[in-house]
Amino acid sequence: MKQIEVRGLTKSYTNGSVTYDILRGIDFDVESGEFISICGPSGSGKTTLLYTISGLESYQGGSILWSGQELSVMKDYEKANMRAHEMGFVFQFYNLVPNLTVYENVMLASVIGKQKTKQEIMELLSLVGLSEQHHFYPSQLSGGMQQRVSIARALINEPKVLFADEPIGNLDHHNGLLIMELFQRLNQNLHTTILMVTHNEDVTRFGTRVIHMQDGKVVKDERNT
Ligand SMILES: Nc1ncnc2c1ncn2[C@@H]1O[C@H](COP(=O)(O)OP(=O)(O)OP(=O)(O)O)[C@@H](O)[C@H]1O
Ligand SMILES: [Mg+2]
Repeated sequence: MKQIEVRGLTKSYTNGSVTYDILRGIDFDVESGEFISICGPSGSGKTTLLYTISGLESYQGGSILWSGQELSVMKDYEKANMRAHEMGFVFQFYNLVPNLTVYENVMLASVIGKQKTKQEIMELLSLVGLSEQHHFYPSQLSGGMQQRVSIARALINEPKVLFADEPIGNLDHHNGLLIMELFQRLNQNLHTTILMVTHNEDVTRFGTRVIHMQDGKVVKDERNT
């Protein structure tokens, strides 16, 4: 089943009289249950692509269909509702709430979404190796730990679609591997659709497909065999 259809997608930023074309005509479909890695040089538009597809950013041209419905005509509350209940987002720079603890950061997402119990939240924190830090504030954590809080927050509502922007960019090899195995289990057992940006070609093997971007365009799109 086609979950997301991206057609001729364009996005640009204007700064004074200068316009920068960031996404320059992107086309691809996402089938439910795919695990897609998105690779490409810094500045090629990977984060911008995730933001537009997830409805966090607007776009100027082309279309993005979610289960056949055009994203740009959806109302803000409809998009917010869809993000809270159907999507999870691991941000490249975490975006944790600084004055909330690890536990509260994850709980906040659950309050907006599926109302998880304390035990369920603690189980997820344990899965990402943070049960002992549940009462810490983000400033008391290493970058890798903050990244794992951000991953737990994205997973707490059991999203149908998980967007992950460099989710293991700040993790050591061991923790990175644990997270990739977790993503693979979610994909294989719960059929969670995953769109993951990564600089690390080695981890693309955990997914089912690799999309390469360059200068705001898809230059290669291949399935893992
Ligand atoms: N709000 C903005 N205003 C103006 N330009 C922007 C804005 N956000 C992103 N850009 C530009 O868009 C381009 C693509 O940025 P984007 O963050 O999508 O790249 P990326 O592929 O995720 O890079 P990286 O691998 O470094 O994270 C960059 O040239 C960036 O400067
Ligand atoms: Mg980026």
